[in-house]
Amino acid sequence: MANYPELKGKVAVITGSSKGLGRAIAERYAKEGVHVVLNYRSSEDEMNKVIQGIEAAGGKAVAVKGDVAEEDLAEKMIETAVSEFGKMDIFVNNAGVQVEAKTHEMELDNWKKIIDTNLTGTFLGVRAALKYFVDHEIQGNIINMSSVHEVIPRSGYTHYAASKGGVKMFTKSVALEYAPNKIRVNGIAPGAIDTPINEETMQDPEEKKGLEALIPTHEIGRPEQIAAVAAWLASDESSYVTGATIFADGGLSLYPSFGPENK
Ligand code: NAI
Repeated sequence: MANYPELKGKVAVITGSSKGLGRAIAERYAKEGVHVVLNYRSSEDEMNKVIQGIEAAGGKAVAVKGDVAEEDLAEKMIETAVSEFGKMDIFVNNAGVQVEAKTHEMELDNWKKIIDTNLTGTFLGVRAALKYFVDHEIQGNIINMSSVHEVIPRSGYTHYAASKGGVKMFTKSVALEYAPNKIRVNGIAPGAIDTPINEETMQDPEEKKGLEALIPTHEIGRPEQIAAVAAWLASDESSYVTGATIFADGGLSLYPSFGPENK
């Protein structure tokens, strides 16, 4: 489904896009006629399959290997966008990780891995994208993947919640700083979406049922539903939206315990 003709011929960089939400965003953007520069850390086969799928559907995609916590990955991805497709219009900071741990037992390496990937990785992507947009006077578009845990505290994942809380305030502050340049910066806060990050829950019928019960609409989200938000945020339909976080969560952030089923 292509809904936004103005996206045709635009160029997007999407981190962490060999699977999950990054992949869904890449495929949706390609359907809109956006040329995509993708990124994977190790799963080259998976990445190649995504690229082949996009090309088979008539789209254009290339991939850059690397870790978002490395200082030069975002710059390399933008250089690739320019060398392959002539420019860069949209930068999606999607890559993210979570590892469960009780805070009093959390290894510093675990803390750093989450903060380095989710928060510092987002900073590095934003910095590189801003530099490119400012230098070339492009009214570009930056989208940061946050989470409902930018507002909902999360036991067992306090570092993850801290990283996404950081992404929230970083997104808003950068949006403010670059509003005069007409560079839009927004976040997406998914609820529980059926991607590999939630594989264990999805494969355990009891856990899955428990999660569905927690969500006010009782539905676990599909990656395409998040990709649809990313397409809208990149489009001109959202031209007056900056510094916002769009929640796509089946109502998970609405204090479900106050809902009609809990009276
Ligand atoms: P996923 O685990 O299915 O995919 C994450 C992708 O990021 C993978 O391709 C992985 O290789 C890549 N990645 C991880 N660390 C990386 C690094 N250091 N450098 C480069 N790539 C890296 O996860 P999913 O669900 O697609 O998550 C994408 C984003 O959405 C993350 O930021 C996550 O926190 C966020 N999110 C996901 C939710 C969900 O329920 N699936 C809910 C809320 C937020």
